[in-house]
Amino acid sequence: MEKRWAKCYYPPMNHPIIAPSVLSADFTDISSALLSIERSGSDWVHLDVMDGHFVPPITFGAKMVQDIRAHTKLPLDVHLMISEPERHVQAFADAGADLVTIHSEACIHAHRVIQAIRDSGKKAGLSIVPSTPLSSIAELLPFVDLVLVMTVNPGYGGQKILPFCLDKIKRLKALRASLGLEFLISTDGGISPETIAEVADAGPDVIVIGSAFFTAADKDSMVGEMRSAFARRVIC
Ligand code: DX5
Ligand code: ZN
Repeated sequence: MEKRWAKCYYPPMNHPIIAPSVLSADFTDISSALLSIERSGSDWVHLDVMDGHFVPPITFGAKMVQDIRAHTKLPLDVHLMISEPERHVQAFADAGADLVTIHSEACIHAHRVIQAIRDSGKKAGLSIVPSTPLSSIAELLPFVDLVLVMTVNPGYGGQKILPFCLDKIKRLKALRASLGLEFLISTDGGISPETIAEVADAGPDVIVIGSAFFTAADKDSMVGEMRSAFARRVIC
């Protein structure tokens, strides 16, 4: 089986990749936000790109990713919540993203876009919103490096987790094992110290944390608490 993930990306047993999202940071002070992510011992920086079309809000584009690239060595996990991502993936790859995730609902030819991301030398992720069934991406699983299972309807930080989405993670893990694939499973939305137990129980490899990270008074302990929740569980 081809090992597409370098060691620095691959989560050791019971050690989820923690990816704080700067969506909840002060956009006028991104350097401090990046520093707090690095100091907390987190693994990736999650960047939420919104276009005002696929989701209602507009956040930022490739220029912001490029500027952030210059301020941190952590892997940049770019989550494109944009329509027609095929028009923009190259710009985000050129800006220094390590991983570019598109939404399956945002484009017709997702396979072609995934190939384009990989051809640019980046890892390719595919995301589904809560109402999208796993079956809709089944054919593409052999071609992706990561599947992002949204646990809120995308567009805003600080929403409540939709627990029914966690079952998709469990089923996706079983499907991945049965197919002998190695993509990472990421989850995003409503993850906090209050919900981490049920999230850890579903067992994703990557957890994105937005508002809970940036509102935490002690970010290091919060990240530690998230990791401990996973350590208490046996992840297959
Ligand atoms: C929401 C974004 C998330 C967001 C998560 O559409 O994709 O990455 O930052 O924020 P929280 O953790 O506050 O739900
Ligand atoms: Zn996100």
